[in-house]
Amino acid sequence: MSDIILSVKDLQVNYGGIEAVKGISFDVPAGDIVTLIGANGAGKSTTLKAIAGLVKPRSGSIEFEGANITGKDSSDIVARGVTLVPEGRRVFANMTVLENIKIGAYLRKDSLDEDIAWVYDLFPRLKERAWQLAGTLSGGEQQMLAVARALMSRPKVLMMDEPSLGLAPLVVKGIFDIIREINKQGVTVLLIEQNANMALKTADYAYVLETGRIGLSGTGAELLTNEDVKKAYLGS
Ligand SMILES: Nc1ncnc2c1ncn2[C@@H]1O[C@H](COP(=O)(O)OP(=O)(O)O)[C@@H](O)[C@H]1O
Ligand SMILES: [Mg+2]
Repeated sequence: MSDIILSVKDLQVNYGGIEAVKGISFDVPAGDIVTLIGANGAGKSTTLKAIAGLVKPRSGSIEFEGANITGKDSSDIVARGVTLVPEGRRVFANMTVLENIKIGAYLRKDSLDEDIAWVYDLFPRLKERAWQLAGTLSGGEQQMLAVARALMSRPKVLMMDEPSLGLAPLVVKGIFDIIREINKQGVTVLLIEQNANMALKTADYAYVLETGRIGLSGTGAELLTNEDVKKAYLGS
């Protein structure tokens, strides 16, 4: 059995009177790609935000490398090695590609040259466009930039909120190729997707989130052939 790097237990998150996440539990083994799939509004983004320290859970616990990080500050969680690529990329439009990349390392004081070289190696397109304003990049390039920026914090666990949203199929394929490559280089990935088909093909293990609760779970391959998953999420 591989080590569990991130463990969520009985997580509950409310927004005022709305119960967005109703007591979910799941584990992320070190070195794996784990995905949470589910319809719009199921609680996927809220779950990632709670892990990242951006919303406070009502109850439950989040453990990272054996330490309880529930309710810690988001900057503490980034410093420990858990980084979120938020939904909708949110690059700084009026800053250059390189400036955006450097912002991802805001918690660090050591030399960034090696890591900039690393992300340029992963995303040659960004290297070519280092001096271009981020707002003028295509949607796919902005997603690459958001991932590159997140990698500058040297995460052990990279969380991604719907990286494929609004991108053309060919561009989506490129993003998923990059997710696999980053994982191959040793980064554990927790991926949230409405594009269940791509997510299940990419993931080692998957959980289905249904209105705040975990329904099915299994390997990506198991869920791809599950009749209920096919009907509800794969459009067949
Ligand atoms: N800031 C917020 N305030 C109030 N309700 C919210 C907020 N963000 C999300 N919700 C609600 O919480 C539920 C889960 O949302 P979310 O986690 O964004 O789902 P998903 O990412 O799976 O689409 C939805 O019912 C949504 O309307
Ligand atoms: Mg969402």
